[in-house]
Amino acid sequence: MDVPNIADKKPIVMTLAPGKYYWCQCGLSESQPLCDGTHSGSAFAPKVFEVAERKPVALCQCKRTKNPPYCDGTHATL
Ligand code: FES
Repeated sequence: MDVPNIADKKPIVMTLAPGKYYWCQCGLSESQPLCDGTHSGSAFAPKVFEVAERKPVALCQCKRTKNPPYCDGTHATL
Protein backbone atom coordinates (compact mmCIF):
# COMPACT_ATOMS: atom_id res chain seq x y z
CA MET A 1 0.00 0.00 0.00
CA ASP A 2 1.29 3.44 -0.88
CA VAL A 3 1.95 5.81 2.00
CA PRO A 4 0.77 9.41 1.60
CA ASN A 5 3.21 12.28 1.89
CA ILE A 6 3.02 14.35 5.08
CA ALA A 7 2.15 17.82 3.79
CA ASP A 8 2.40 19.33 7.28
CA LYS A 9 2.30 18.05 10.84
CA LYS A 10 -0.57 20.30 11.85
CA PRO A 11 -4.12 20.86 10.62
CA ILE A 12 -5.25 23.94 8.76
CA VAL A 13 -8.36 25.74 9.95
CA MET A 14 -10.54 27.08 7.15
CA THR A 15 -14.02 28.56 7.06
CA LEU A 16 -15.77 26.74 4.25
CA ALA A 17 -18.88 27.87 2.44
CA PRO A 18 -21.57 25.26 1.73
CA GLY A 19 -20.49 23.03 -1.11
CA LYS A 20 -18.48 20.04 -2.25
CA TYR A 21 -14.73 19.81 -1.63
CA TYR A 22 -11.92 17.45 -2.63
CA TRP A 23 -9.46 16.74 0.18
CA CYS A 24 -5.96 15.76 -0.93
CA GLN A 25 -5.10 12.22 0.19
CA CYS A 26 -1.71 11.84 -1.52
CA GLY A 27 -0.20 14.76 0.39
CA LEU A 28 1.51 16.20 -2.71
CA SER A 29 -1.01 18.86 -3.72
CA GLU A 30 0.33 22.42 -3.89
CA SER A 31 -3.13 23.57 -2.78
CA GLN A 32 -3.19 21.90 0.65
CA PRO A 33 -5.36 20.67 2.12
CA LEU A 34 -7.35 20.39 -1.09
CA CYS A 35 -6.62 18.41 -4.26
CA ASP A 36 -4.88 20.03 -7.23
CA GLY A 37 -4.68 16.88 -9.38
CA THR A 38 -1.08 15.98 -8.51
CA HIS A 39 -2.21 12.46 -7.49
CA SER A 40 -2.90 11.65 -11.14
CA GLY A 41 -1.24 8.36 -12.07
CA SER A 42 -0.81 7.31 -8.43
CA ALA A 43 -2.87 4.95 -6.25
CA PHE A 44 -4.48 7.95 -4.54
CA ALA A 45 -7.68 9.83 -5.22
CA PRO A 46 -9.11 12.83 -3.40
CA LYS A 47 -11.74 12.33 -0.73
CA VAL A 48 -14.93 14.14 -1.61
CA PHE A 49 -16.76 15.77 1.27
CA GLU A 50 -19.62 18.20 1.57
CA VAL A 51 -20.23 21.10 3.90
CA ALA A 52 -23.90 21.93 4.50
CA GLU A 53 -23.46 25.26 6.23
CA ARG A 54 -20.71 27.84 6.49
CA LYS A 55 -18.42 26.85 9.35
CA PRO A 56 -14.78 26.63 10.40
CA VAL A 57 -13.19 23.20 10.03
CA ALA A 58 -9.76 21.80 10.93
CA LEU A 59 -8.58 19.80 7.95
CA CYS A 60 -5.80 17.22 8.28
CA GLN A 61 -2.54 17.91 6.45
CA CYS A 62 -0.50 15.02 7.84
CA LYS A 63 -2.75 12.60 5.89
CA ARG A 64 -2.76 10.13 8.78
CA THR A 65 -6.11 11.05 10.37
CA LYS A 66 -8.57 8.22 11.02
CA ASN A 67 -11.42 10.66 10.35
CA PRO A 68 -10.61 12.22 6.98
CA PRO A 69 -10.70 14.99 5.97
CA TYR A 70 -10.79 16.24 9.56
CA CYS A 71 -7.86 16.38 11.97
CA ASP A 72 -8.19 13.82 14.77
CA GLY A 73 -4.94 14.66 16.57
CA THR A 74 -2.90 11.85 14.99
CA HIS A 75 -0.35 14.44 13.78
CA ALA A 76 0.84 14.79 17.39
CA THR A 77 2.17 11.22 17.26
CA LEU A 78 4.30 11.70 14.15
S1 FES B 1 -3.09 17.16 10.83
FE1 FES B 1 -3.43 15.04 10.43
S2 FES B 1 -4.40 14.34 12.26
FE2 FES B 1 -4.03 16.44 12.62
